[in-house]
Amino acid sequence: MTAFVAGATGFVGRAVVPALVARGETTIAHVRPDSARLGEWRERFAAMGATVDASRWEQDALADAMRTAGVTHVFCLIGTTRGRAKADGVAGNIYDAVDYGLTKLLVDAAVASGTKPRFVYLSSVGASTRATSAYLKARGRAEDVVRASGLPWVIARPSVITGDGRDDERPAERAAGVMIDGVLSVAGLLGARRLRARYRSTTPDVLAAALVRLALDGAADTLAEGADLR
Ligand SMILES: NC(=O)c1ccc[n+]([C@@H]2O[C@H](COP(=O)([O-])OP(=O)(O)OC[C@H]3O[C@@H](n4cnc5c(N)ncnc54)[C@H](OP(=O)(O)O)[C@@H]3O)[C@@H](O)[C@H]2O)c1
Repeated sequence: MTAFVAGATGFVGRAVVPALVARGETTIAHVRPDSARLGEWRERFAAMGATVDASRWEQDALADAMRTAGVTHVFCLIGTTRGRAKADGVAGNIYDAVDYGLTKLLVDAAVASGTKPRFVYLSSVGASTRATSAYLKARGRAEDVVRASGLPWVIARPSVITGDGRDDERPAERAAGVMIDGVLSVAGLLGARRLRARYRSTTPDVLAAALVRLALDGAADTLAEGADLR
């Protein structure tokens, strides 16, 4: 079993990599080749027991890497923010360009690799092509691409992911987590337990354990949210 983790350098990705290694998976952490921290990531992932692949974000390059390694699971844990998109020089609809665009590219590469890997997509609660938010709409479109790929898939829709250890501090995200959890604890007391399970915040470690469990042990074609991600 060999896992390929795109977005390995992210808040969730860097928890998924050691969780896969702990399950005995040969684990390849993808780092973009132009990353200013490529050397640092090679050291950090080697210390976790994983190897680094720095293929270009191009279908043929990624498909070759997956084919050569005999990849059985692809984790797609990527996505941008306004700040990161600005630094990357991404213009226009940043979520269409990165969250949707790179997911489609990775799905196409996984199909072209011929290894028929299971595709694990980290989406978001509320993702829908009918959403009014550009972010949730792009996530909905990306989910549709994953479902139509012909590959076995897992789509995970967590609520806010919070905790210590982010490179960029995101006070709004942290505040949203605290506020949502506060409101939901009252809702839970009033009996709205499913609502609380769906929207309660989570941490990278809890989410990583759930993603790995669903990927390796779960049924094919799984849409997971709420309690499935605990
Ligand atoms: N944070 C939340 O509360 C939350 C809630 C629900 C769903 N999600 C979804 O889960 C995803 C992962 O969350 P996270 O907190 O781990 O995100 P994160 O820390 O921002 O990590 C994002 C990953 O995507 C990569 N990336 C971003 N832009 C890229 C580009 N233009 N080209 C190539 N790689 C790019 C980053 O690589 P570099 O390190 O090289 O920049 C990093 O590995 C998010 O994108 C989000 O949509 C997040």
